[in-house]
Amino acid sequence: MKILVTGGCGYIGSHTVVDLLNDGLEVVIVDNLVNSKRDVLEKIKKITGKCVTFYEYDLCDMEKLDSIFKKESISAVIHFAGLKAVGESVSIPLKYYQNNLTGTINLLLCMQKYNVKKIIFSSSATVYGNPKTLPIKEDFPLSTTNPYGTTKLMIETILKDLYQSDNSFDIAILRYFNPIGAHKSGLLGEDPNGIPNNLMPYIVKVATGKLPVLNIFGADYKTVDGTGVRDYIHVLDLSYGHMLALKNKKTGLKIYNLGTGKGTSVLELVTMFETVNKVKINKKIVGRREGDIDACYASCSLAERELGFKCRYTLEDMCLDSYNYVKNNN
Ligand SMILES: NC(=O)c1ccc[n+]([C@@H]2O[C@H](COP(=O)([O-])OP(=O)(O)OC[C@H]3O[C@@H](n4cnc5c(N)ncnc54)[C@H](O)[C@@H]3O)[C@@H](O)[C@H]2O)c1
Repeated sequence: MKILVTGGCGYIGSHTVVDLLNDGLEVVIVDNLVNSKRDVLEKIKKITGKCVTFYEYDLCDMEKLDSIFKKESISAVIHFAGLKAVGESVSIPLKYYQNNLTGTINLLLCMQKYNVKKIIFSSSATVYGNPKTLPIKEDFPLSTTNPYGTTKLMIETILKDLYQSDNSFDIAILRYFNPIGAHKSGLLGEDPNGIPNNLMPYIVKVATGKLPVLNIFGADYKTVDGTGVRDYIHVLDLSYGHMLALKNKKTGLKIYNLGTGKGTSVLELVTMFETVNKVKINKKIVGRREGDIDACYASCSLAERELGFKCRYTLEDMCLDSYNYVKNNN
């Protein structure tokens, strides 16, 4: 069975490719490397002892994408490719709509043309907007607060419409909460350039001296200690969720939250990071960031019931593995 992984050189994609290869599946990656590096392919080979077929193509280039489907006998697609920086999506929304929507529509057109009917799509908890109650269930109302989130919601709508028109499609929409952590080998992980958008890469940059201080955006939220609460999930558990979705025998259009179901505040995460890694994080409370919400954590009972999904890694693992990756790659 050959799986096409779009964005397979990226953070979550690369971990999933390792799991697919370890499971004996063949993998084809398409990635334009806009937010990743080619050396990830070598690292995947080092971990698994196996090679993948790689195409450095942009999903927006329909002719090139079509050529992959023509050449390879693809059985299923895991679709990670997309731009993902919330702040950037506010400054350059058209780029986000063009990249994320055109890329996805091209992909779905190819799937239709070559009769590939199974797709797993990377959605996000951002589609729940500002939830009125917690934990968040899949049937909660949907809304977005930025163009990035809107692309995710639009793609979900496109997938629902496609399924409505042809219910031989088998579609899993996975709504990720906050992936952190890294591969145990220290070879794969996340280390964005510049000032990171997300908390864990920011903490790690302060720990390694690349940034002087961790700005904590707001300490007056209605939470346990005033700082924002999120549901952090180890990237290896997230990747495992994709394996389960791929193997799920129940067909149709399915939507699952992938998180741990536990909320952790910014200060709790920083304290855990300091304790397990024995480092001090210089931090400063600053004003709230526009659009941030008090708290967000998942109900994962649907994924648990239907996929058998259960997280295997703790917050401690997430803190250890995130730091280990960056120390290994500096
Ligand atoms: N990391 C998170 O916090 C998070 C949370 C929720 C959802 N997601 C979604 O999960 C997916 C994977 O996220 P990630 O953290 O691994 O991101 P990432 O940026 O590390 O990986 C995305 C990959 O897609 C590639 N890509 C982007 N546009 C492309 C295009 N037009 N053609 C070909 N390749 C293209 C990039 O080069 C990159 O390698 C994304 O769709 C993201 O929106 C991520």
